[in-house]
Amino acid sequence: MVHHSGVLIPAEKSYLFQNRLRPLLRRYHCDSFETLYERAQAPDATDLVGAVIEAMTTHETSFFRDPWAFEALTEELERLYRLGKREVSIWSAACSTGEEPYSIAMVVYEFCRKRPSMKCTILASDIADDTLAKARKAEYFRLGSYLPEDYAGRFFLRADRRMTLREEIRGMVDFEHFNLLDIRKRGKVFDIIFCRNVALYFPNDIRLPFFQDLANCLPAGGMLLVGSSESMYRATARYERARHGNHFYYRRAR
Ligand SMILES: C[S@@+](CC[C@H](N)C(=O)[O-])C[C@H]1O[C@@H](n2cnc3c(N)ncnc32)[C@H](O)[C@@H]1O
Repeated sequence: MVHHSGVLIPAEKSYLFQNRLRPLLRRYHCDSFETLYERAQAPDATDLVGAVIEAMTTHETSFFRDPWAFEALTEELERLYRLGKREVSIWSAACSTGEEPYSIAMVVYEFCRKRPSMKCTILASDIADDTLAKARKAEYFRLGSYLPEDYAGRFFLRADRRMTLREEIRGMVDFEHFNLLDIRKRGKVFDIIFCRNVALYFPNDIRLPFFQDLANCLPAGGMLLVGSSESMYRATARYERARHGNHFYYRRAR
C-alpha cells in the first residue's frame, strides 16, 4: 500500500486488510490472501492493484466538510479579486467522491455571480478510479449537515432518494486520475490547493517531502488548505502559517 499510494495501514489496524480485501478474493478468484498478494505483485496486475487501493483507502468526505475552509476560500477569492486577478485556478488534490470539489464549485459559482469578470478553473483528482467515477456521476443519497440550507433546492435535482447535482455546478469541475506520490511530475501551478485528509495517512518519511514538493505547485503566497488534524507546523520552511478565525491554513513562503 505504502509503495503504491503512500497510505500506511498501521500494524494494529491489520484487521482492516482482511475486512476490506475479502470481497476481492471472490472477484479475482483467489483462494487465500496470500494468493491475492502474489497476484498483485505481477507487472500486469494494475487492475487488481487499483482495486486494492480503492478498498484500502478511506474515502470519507462530505459537502462543505469543515465549513470554515469554504469561508476562507471566499475570502481568498475576494482578496485575489481586489488585487486585480481575474483568472484563478483551484485544485482539489484528493477529491474522493466529489463532495469537496463540488463544494468549491458552489462557492465559486456564488462568487462569480456577483463578479462576472472573475474566471475560475477547478481541477479535482484522486488515485482511486471507481471513486472518481462516482464523483463524475455526481449522484448522492446524503448531502450531509454542512451544506448551506438553500443549496439542496438550488443546486440538486431530486428523484426519489437520489440527489443529482445540476449541470451548471457539475460542469465547473474537471476530474483526473493523479497519484500524489507523483507530485514531482505535476508540472502545474494552482492559486489555491485543497489537499485535505489524505497526507495524514502517509508515514512521516513520505509526508514531509510530499508537502515540500507540493509547494512547487503554488505561486509565492498561494493558499494551501489541509485537513483540521493535519498541522504542518514547523514541518517545512516552504510555507507560512495563516489564520482564519481559530483555524490554520498555509501560504507558500515568498
Ligand atoms: C478521506 S478522503 C478525503 C476527501 C476530501 N479531500 C475531504 O477532505 O473530504 C481521502 C482520499 O484520498 C485518496 N488518496 C489516498 N492516497 C492517495 C494518493 N497517493 N494520491 C491521490 N489520492 C489519494 C483516497 O482515494 C481518498 O479518496
